[in-house]
Amino acid sequence: MSAPKLETQKITQTVTLQGRDEITLDLDIVQGQVAHATLSGRGCTEMLSLLQAWRPKLVGALADLVVPEGNTHSEILLREAILKARGEWKFPYEDQELCHCRAVATSKVDAAIIGGCRSVRAIARETSAGTSCGSCRPDTEAIIAYRLK
Ligand code: FES
Repeated sequence: MSAPKLETQKITQTVTLQGRDEITLDLDIVQGQVAHATLSGRGCTEMLSLLQAWRPKLVGALADLVVPEGNTHSEILLREAILKARGEWKFPYEDQELCHCRAVATSKVDAAIIGGCRSVRAIARETSAGTSCGSCRPDTEAIIAYRLK
């Protein structure tokens, strides 16, 4: 009689903010539990401190991995990496271009939010998105709401 086969899974998630800040989360999952976790990245001192503080938290069930609750750019990026690893990432806008009047990419708006813009008005100042017909503003609001906890 053979031993039951263990269900194993390797998960790698890399998230980045405009190529400057980057977080990579590597997980070995056995039977839904984190068997080994590596969290690395490059960026500012705040980000590196967050990663160091978060490594001991990457234990237990994959579905229960804790995510940062704050809204610094480091916390937002780490939250994205962990939610993607858990299979729970549901970014609310799929097209590459968010503002068609001003030809502003979704990634540019998203980066502005991660970088500190917290309102449609601030996004408009930073990226020009939403400064013409305004029909993209609800999508911008949806991304702000999703990104910020
Ligand atoms: S689509 Fe963004 S202002 Fe018109």
